[in-house]
Amino acid sequence: MNENPKRHKLPNVFYRSLKYHAHLLHGDCVEVMREMISDERGFKGRIDAIVTDPPYGIDWLASDWDEYDHRSQEQKTADSETGDSCEKVMFKKMSVRQEAMPSTAADAGLSFQKWCEEWGRLCYALLKPGGYILSFGGSRAHHRMVCGLEDAGFEVRDEIQWVYSTGAVRGRDLGRDIQSVGGLKPDEMERLKGKNTALKPAHEPITVQRKPLPAGQSVTTCVATTGVGAMNVKDTRFPSFEERLKKAGPAPPVDRYPANVVVAEDEAVMGEYTKFFYCPKPSVQERGGSIGGLGGEKFKADWDAGRDIDAHPTTKPIRLMSWLVTLVTPPGGLVLDPFMGSGTTVRAAVLGGFRGIGIEKEEPFANLAKRRLQELEAELDKQGKEEIQ
Ligand SMILES: C[S@@+](CC[C@H](N)C(=O)[O-])C[C@H]1O[C@@H](n2cnc3c(N)ncnc32)[C@H](O)[C@@H]1O
Repeated sequence: MNENPKRHKLPNVFYRSLKYHAHLLHGDCVEVMREMISDERGFKGRIDAIVTDPPYGIDWLASDWDEYDHRSQEQKTADSETGDSCEKVMFKKMSVRQEAMPSTAADAGLSFQKWCEEWGRLCYALLKPGGYILSFGGSRAHHRMVCGLEDAGFEVRDEIQWVYSTGAVRGRDLGRDIQSVGGLKPDEMERLKGKNTALKPAHEPITVQRKPLPAGQSVTTCVATTGVGAMNVKDTRFPSFEERLKKAGPAPPVDRYPANVVVAEDEAVMGEYTKFFYCPKPSVQERGGSIGGLGGEKFKADWDAGRDIDAHPTTKPIRLMSWLVTLVTPPGGLVLDPFMGSGTTVRAAVLGGFRGIGIEKEEPFANLAKRRLQELEAELDKQGKEEIQ
């Protein structure tokens, strides 16, 4: 637990906070993690925990940043030579706009799974034996990520569900087709009424997987000697709903044993749900700015124009990321997020006194992560000064 990122050479660093032990790296995480492993003074087997939120395998907002490029390096080179754009061959088959391709959905799913296995193997190599990976997914393609990580060598230990009520339906309303298609018979129109291809999304699964313990070692020995191998269920206990209202803050007082369900918004006011950790979706202020409504119009306009963006469309709440990081990272331990987006995991690491490394391939998101981290540093510096005075 004494490794210090300063002693090792990290590739592609574009921002570091030595005071708060945070490093932001810019690049494709597959390439960056390969470099982290290949450096002999590097990070192989030194990361305590991975907490991440990778692309879910659907082309949300119809932009390419939430997709993944599953081609081999040779294929990428060949495609760039023939002029085939990355987007053309990226995973799009499970998008809502291409529902009518069931015969290819399995291929697309398998290819997403293979990509998850590819980055999963690199995460596996970087983690200490007994180290956990917590990874978010979307309900449609999550099973592929779970299997991909399992194929990379991890043991599936659990699944956390983050339940919320504010998701927007992104399916196809077939009733609307009645006008646009035209020429339909009355019974055909009747069949289309009240039909949609999707339910309202109200949960996000988070797979909980662990790198196997060192051969022949018990979990007790592993945790006692390395600090990893089991979850921290002491510091992640949480107050009941009434107490939470009185004592909001990132470090909840000891109360209930953590469950594998986390709830947001109004579920929390329903009696039974007070037994679960409460975490709402992030506010506009917490995200760092607005994305411009449900469709993210402002985000799309800024992105297309190559301007700095105010907020990431899928920012996770700091409270949830703090809870997850605390669950699987030993005190002062090193946590990695290979898909950091606007850097919420790294912020959570800094807030909890852990060390954090984040990787992001898109420059506007990397810049946003830097800005959010700098704001946090300024806030912590200010608090520190006030405490001293
Ligand atoms: C779901 S978002 C993460 C959002 C993050 N949890 C937050 O709070 O801001 C996934 C991120 O992974 C990035 N990404 C996708 N493929 C990547 C890759 N190969 N290497 C690094 N980052 C990647 C995307 O650009 C996107 O910002």
